[in-house]
Amino acid sequence: MQARRHVFVCTQQRPRGGRPACGLRGGIELLAALREAVASRPDLWDIAVTGCECLGPCFEGPNAVVYPEGVWYAGAAAGDADAIADEHLADGRPVARLVRPPDDEDDGGGGGQGARADD
Ligand code: FES
Repeated sequence: MQARRHVFVCTQQRPRGGRPACGLRGGIELLAALREAVASRPDLWDIAVTGCECLGPCFEGPNAVVYPEGVWYAGAAAGDADAIADEHLADGRPVARLVRPPDDEDDGGGGGQGARADD
């Protein structure tokens, strides 16, 4: 079955003291909470949730991106998983308070709202 939406959640880990890493700032918990939210709702069983490595805007993490819309979330926490599931994954309305605005400059790793996997 093809996924209706696919969420990628950064769970990158790296040594403390350098560039921040989403996995150390709640990304792992966000991934778990999103997986639990999707698994608990049959209407979301066609939503894929995948952990991934660095998405680019590390200083704004934890970061996640939802396709096919290409909507980026920044600073999302596990406690935001139900809102993302209810509003975005189920109803297609991104959670505005968590959406990462598009940027003019890349910070070195890709990313930014509207970016696509094949960009
Ligand atoms: S570590 Fe998560 S975006 Fe770079």
